[in-house]
Amino acid sequence: MKKLEEIKININGHISTVRTGESINNIREYASPADTVIVTDDNLNRHYYEMFSDYPVIVIGTGEGIKTFATVETIIRELIELRAHRKTFLLGVGGGIVCDIAGFAASIYMRGIPFGFVSTSLLSQVDASVGGKNGVNIDGLKNMAGVINQPEFVICDHGMLKTLPEDEYINGMAELVKTACLDDEGLFQFISDNREKLKNRHGETVSEAVYRSVKFKAKIVEEDEREESVRRILNLGHTLGHAVEKVKGTKHGFAVSAGIGFALELSKNYGLIDSSLENEVKDMLKFFGLPCTLGEVTNEKDLPELMKAVESDKKKGGDSINFILLKGIGESVIRNIKSEELMKYISGYSSFKNN
Ligand SMILES: NC(=O)c1ccc[n+]([C@@H]2O[C@H](COP(=O)([O-])OP(=O)(O)OC[C@H]3O[C@@H](n4cnc5c(N)ncnc54)[C@H](O)[C@@H]3O)[C@@H](O)[C@H]2O)c1
Ligand SMILES: [Zn+2]
Repeated sequence: MKKLEEIKININGHISTVRTGESINNIREYASPADTVIVTDDNLNRHYYEMFSDYPVIVIGTGEGIKTFATVETIIRELIELRAHRKTFLLGVGGGIVCDIAGFAASIYMRGIPFGFVSTSLLSQVDASVGGKNGVNIDGLKNMAGVINQPEFVICDHGMLKTLPEDEYINGMAELVKTACLDDEGLFQFISDNREKLKNRHGETVSEAVYRSVKFKAKIVEEDEREESVRRILNLGHTLGHAVEKVKGTKHGFAVSAGIGFALELSKNYGLIDSSLENEVKDMLKFFGLPCTLGEVTNEKDLPELMKAVESDKKKGGDSINFILLKGIGESVIRNIKSEELMKYISGYSSFKNN
């Protein structure tokens, strides 16, 4: 059993603690049933309700479609009914969707109550539950309303990953590989050396990878909570990933994985990396069952729509897009690329020609 590790994230004096290698069995040490309300989803409730049967529980549905104001309002109504007050603690038990919604509801209920998470999907452990972004979608547009507000704690219980469906596990792997590309403390090598164990969800190994990934993200978030500078590098693979997700409805991690593949091709094109690094990362993505070319998740005829989505997602900066490229493992660069140039690259790439 992997030992408990703690990562403290200090943002403007507020300390948020992420605990990896911890178990939901110990949740009472962190949040007492007497003054805590749990928000969870149908799936988690089905698998784990016995673990929290002594808490008041608000159960929400599943899927992106429920990440709405309407769900937040339902939670708030239930909190009122439960007579939750300013000192009530809201505990989200679930993946990224539960955490995003619960964090947002807690941030606005009575102008803000304390909250924390038991993060239960690989994606939320390595990414979603660290960094304080909470929010909902509006008319299907992702995360259009929300706040940046840090939880008191996040518990990552690798034991709970055993019940996670395989495609959800692979989905989270994409964010782990992304972080590994950016991390300069050996996470990529660790994943590479332990790929079989990771694929088979070996508890201790997964927990170590989650720990390292959280540690990296924590460092970045401490430096730049509001994504004004260095936090942008976490968008590696996301410019095209988001576009593919939007146009094709591809799962986030799978879309991001293809986006990472594209970013590698572009990095090579700019002479920043050579083929060996490109192939090394792509081999890792493939090993985990992830796509590494745009051709695997989309089609040349989707190009105009894809470009439209990239442009609507672009950060301010005229007709150009800030794109995250790699110079090596642990070394990223942000390039401002003109829309037409990007379009030329996307359409000209082997990504599509392979298809
Ligand atoms: N706040 C952030 O910084 C941030 C970062 C990345 C993603 N996100 C958001 O996270 C969301 C995606 O998160 P996700 O991939 O965790 O999706 P999710 O919360 O929908 O979880 C995926 C599925 O797995 C199920 N599940 C989760 N844990 C389980 C377990 N232990 N056992 C059995 N089933 C389990 C869920 O019920 C769901 O059906 C998106 O809405 C995305 O916008 C937020
Ligand atoms: Zn992501």
